[in-house]
Amino acid sequence: MRSKTKMVHGGITRDEQTGAVSVPIYQVSTYKQDGVGDFRGYEYSRTGNPTRHALETVIADLENGKHGFAFGSGMAAITTVMMLLHAGEHVILTDDVYGGSYRLMTKVLNRFELNHTFVDTSKPANVEDAIQSNTKALFIETPTNPLLKITDLNKMAEIAKKHNLLLIVDNTFATSYWQQPLDLGADIVLHSATKYIGGHSDVVAGVVAVKTKELAEKIHFLQNSVGAVLGPQDSWLLMRGIKTLALRMEAIEANSKKLVEYLLSHPKVSSVYYPGIETHPGHQIAKSQSNGFGGMISFDVGSEDLAEDVLKRVKYFTLAESLGAVESLISLPAKMTHASIPAERRAELGITDGLIRISVGIEDAEDLIEDLEQALGD
Ligand SMILES: Cc1ncc(COP(=O)(O)O)c(C=O)c1O
Repeated sequence: MRSKTKMVHGGITRDEQTGAVSVPIYQVSTYKQDGVGDFRGYEYSRTGNPTRHALETVIADLENGKHGFAFGSGMAAITTVMMLLHAGEHVILTDDVYGGSYRLMTKVLNRFELNHTFVDTSKPANVEDAIQSNTKALFIETPTNPLLKITDLNKMAEIAKKHNLLLIVDNTFATSYWQQPLDLGADIVLHSATKYIGGHSDVVAGVVAVKTKELAEKIHFLQNSVGAVLGPQDSWLLMRGIKTLALRMEAIEANSKKLVEYLLSHPKVSSVYYPGIETHPGHQIAKSQSNGFGGMISFDVGSEDLAEDVLKRVKYFTLAESLGAVESLISLPAKMTHASIPAERRAELGITDGLIRISVGIEDAEDLIEDLEQALGD
């Protein structure tokens, strides 16, 4: 089954009992047992729920994984995956990971003695250099947020294999439609499904897919133990979102190309970050490991004052955190998504105060361009 077909027919997408072409929302916490310990597949909805299970089977299919799992948020998914590791062990992460992942490692999991090193994983030698005797995992985001840095997943898989590390990939930006990390050698792929997978700014969720039965058993144990599961209503909304993921991503990417062209020619824009630009660092790698470049664009207008003016003047771009929805969103990473990263660290990473990030939606590209034109001013 090809990718677009999987989004409609993958996993469990209907109700066998009634023929309903949409999986019912099993709004239930517990299940009648026919005798003590004699239950019909489900005993308690933290452990398993039929609607969540249906979503989990589609996620596994989309990522070419063995099993899928759904959580109450992307951070719940990441936290649960990190629970695979033990106190005293060490993880290497991409240096400009999502701010919440940075906060989790530096302010929460450090208290449980889970050690970390952030490196620019777009240079594989940095990863090799950071490996210690207690290193157990690589946590990669590609493309990254907000500078769209690209990491070579084949290279990461080689390093992970050589040093017996777990390769975990946050695939939120690329989506399962454009990029399939498990096929490139990753062990675990995860998403903030709040973004493109849901796609309509109406659900907060996280999903995980794993390559092996062994990992699936461990993640299921942790999902049930930690308990940060996704509810049935939200699971259903994600399944509905997935059915149009391919269409949305195609439309978003077509709009993105037009917006990038416009921004590249604007005199007030000093730099544009988008993996589809031929001169973007890692463009060739992105092209070889993904089928598309996505819908996230960052651009620098040189000053915080102009950036704030643009954010105030736009009409069709909604000023909001988050990304990956049908409506275009605009944000100032230094003051919003990346505010939890200390200023000196942001400067090191190149996240300037004049850097604007847009998440391109499915509106008419001409309207979006006209909107940016008036917002950037004369
Ligand atoms: C790349 C990435 N990973 C993880 C997360 C966390 O996801 P959530 O907000 O669903 O907890 C986000 C949120 O913006 C993100 O952008």
